[in-house]
Amino acid sequence: MITLGIESSCDETGVALVKDEKTVLSNIIASSLKLHCRHGGVIPEIASRMQLESIAGVFQEALKEAGIKPEKIGLIAFTGHPGLPGSLTVGTAFARGLAAGLGKPLAEIDHVYGHIYANALSHKKIVFPAVALVVSGGHTSLFYLKDFSAIRLLGQTRDDACGEAFDKVAKIMGLGYPGGPLIEKIAGQGDKQKIKFSFPGMKNGLDFSFSGIKTAVLYYLKNRKLTPRLKADLAASFQESVIKNLTDKSLLACRIRKTKTLLVGGGVAANSCLRQRLVSAAREEGVTCLFPDIRLCMDNAAMIAGLGGYLYQSRIPRFKG
Ligand code: KG4
Ligand code: ZN
Repeated sequence: MITLGIESSCDETGVALVKDEKTVLSNIIASSLKLHCRHGGVIPEIASRMQLESIAGVFQEALKEAGIKPEKIGLIAFTGHPGLPGSLTVGTAFARGLAAGLGKPLAEIDHVYGHIYANALSHKKIVFPAVALVVSGGHTSLFYLKDFSAIRLLGQTRDDACGEAFDKVAKIMGLGYPGGPLIEKIAGQGDKQKIKFSFPGMKNGLDFSFSGIKTAVLYYLKNRKLTPRLKADLAASFQESVIKNLTDKSLLACRIRKTKTLLVGGGVAANSCLRQRLVSAAREEGVTCLFPDIRLCMDNAAMIAGLGGYLYQSRIPRFKG
């Protein structure tokens, strides 16, 4: 079966075609990121207007690249939540219109679960049960999975999301938006042991908190001159503290739930230092840690189509159509 996926939760407009829940035939993404950069963050009104402008063209391009006629589509899966209401409405309306026009079933998919499912598009075999860590611009959560249809929340951030902390710290340092890739880049030239940042009060348990570290960076810079050297050290030290925190919590969750598989997803999962550290720390505890291919860490519609196809074949979710 071929599933058409639609992703429109934030500033990316994605349409993908996925065969049998696993094989990506096309995965087209249009982003309005450049229009948000000068504002230092995503402006919802701009994002939803751009979704509306892009979606029909992205749909046509996805069909063309996959060489698929609309009649061949067996299911339409779309991101129903969470996300920016205006942006979500565009994808939802487009999906509903298509489903009605083509007479196909419709699957509403959770964007965060989609980030976890991106692993199934990158790895042939995943051993369950598993713990999953989702680190994105809007979410930082740990889940327990019996499989991709039985997902239970174990812990989440009490304030800022991890990607949001990267973005805010980059803004404080005058680096630009989005902060994650910019911090990763200059962190490569810095000393990660230079400044010690901690996560007070969040040592135990599976919840996260990232607003404190952002404030700590702000205070650290209060009476200091932000030289290129200090910028690099600050970026490296901040990134190191966040990676240590994510690693400690994820492996704690694996120990508590006695799982030998750790799945990671979301935009921050594109960070190569996080990827290396989690994989090696997990290996030391006998845990297999998997990440999606980097291009599937960011928002995309293939993960939505894949999960939709999987749930539909398993006859599990909410379907209409
Ligand atoms: O999953 P995503 O594309 O969108 C949401 O669902 O939020 O994640 C975007 C977030 C941004 O906060 C961005 O700064 C962060 O992912 N990010 C990174 C890296 N690439 C993107 N954070 C750290 N290191 C990176 N290389
Ligand atoms: Zn996302």
